Amino acid sequence: MPTLRRLSGLEILDSRGQPTVKAICELASGARGAASVPSGRSTGRAEAHEKRDGDSRRYRGLGCREAVRNINEVIFPNLEDTTFSGQDDFDRALLELDGTDDKSGLGANALLGCSLAYARATAIEAGKPLFQTLASLMGTSPRLPRPTITLFSGGKHAGGQVEIQDVLIVPLAARTIDDAMAATFAVYQAAVALGARKYGMRPLVADEGGLAPAFPDINTMLSDAVEAITMAGFVPGLDIALAIDVAASRFFRGGRYQLGGMQLSGRNMIELVAGWVARFPIISVEDALAEDDWQHWPDLRRALGRRALIMGDDLLCTNPRRIERAVGERAANALLLKVNQIGTLTEAADSCRRARAAGWAVTASARSGETEDDWLADLATGWASDQIKIGSITRSERLAKYNRLLEIEVTARLPLAPWPTPLP
Ligand code: PGA
Ligand code: ZN
Repeated sequence: MPTLRRLSGLEILDSRGQPTVKAICELASGARGAASVPSGRSTGRAEAHEKRDGDSRRYRGLGCREAVRNINEVIFPNLEDTTFSGQDDFDRALLELDGTDDKSGLGANALLGCSLAYARATAIEAGKPLFQTLASLMGTSPRLPRPTITLFSGGKHAGGQVEIQDVLIVPLAARTIDDAMAATFAVYQAAVALGARKYGMRPLVADEGGLAPAFPDINTMLSDAVEAITMAGFVPGLDIALAIDVAASRFFRGGRYQLGGMQLSGRNMIELVAGWVARFPIISVEDALAEDDWQHWPDLRRALGRRALIMGDDLLCTNPRRIERAVGERAANALLLKVNQIGTLTEAADSCRRARAAGWAVTASARSGETEDDWLADLATGWASDQIKIGSITRSERLAKYNRLLEIEVTARLPLAPWPTPLP
């Protein structure tokens, strides 16, 4: 059983140049693991508390020195030389030290750094790749997740030039990660050429590496994605389909969805999205409604659940209680799983299990603020998630994860997850 010899934290920078936390864990065996914590911009209100220093003179208040101090001066001294029976035992100790429901005691960024670094160190101690020890933790057989890749960005990730946040491509016909990446490259390059022709766009990219030309409206954003798929020689809906992240909480104000000059009720918003799903090959819809619009989510699933994954991100915040509520109310049929929304691996595993028990699909997701760390690829594989959502195929903080999937594919020869049949 692993005994903790050393645990330390440091402040590093994420893909937006903003501070985040890195933790390093060393066990008595000498095994050592490190992990870095991502950070969202389009965050859900129910996410665990990310501790920021709030000193406006330094990184506009976004410093993580206090979170790091909590690792070095609270967590480590309390857990030094302790022997743990496993990840859940270690995570339980973290939660006890934090002592709050929302992780505002020590900070979810401090806790997650430790939780992940411990997972890495124990995998190294066991002489196994991380995905394998994570699979044992979950009790699943590892499997490669199908990538869903951001083609176009909008919303908070792209200066709000169009309201919805992501238009992603789903390489449905791909049988390997290698196939999926080659197809993605072709569509991305076609979209670059299309953007140059239609909008005089240079291939500048948004927070997650997606292209962000000045689309006149959402319909054009969607039809351009279909055109790029065709230009690349694929059949839309058959070879490559679309997924969208509406991130509707961002434009929900005063009980109305305010987009494209319209003020829509929940019902009208569902009709609008249903129109997109009818006209375009969209097979997954994330956050089509706002995070607290619980009243309309079951109507959304009833209207579209047969044709598309109804995925909750801000709605669920990877929180077991919110997932239970959504299962009970039939509010969604898919979970977007972001470990830093909840704060420890054990709690995220609990969320994943609850979603699975309800027959839901699971997408393991990165954040818009990422680092070069690649643990997400191992987590998605080990927990046998159906999909992975990393962002686009530019920017190295994204590529670190795709490249790790390519490596796992070559070294472990695992199958690629099929597209799941949505639960009506
Ligand atoms: P975030 O965006 O990391 O900025 O929250 C990702 C998403 O909304 O899926
Ligand atoms: Zn989202």
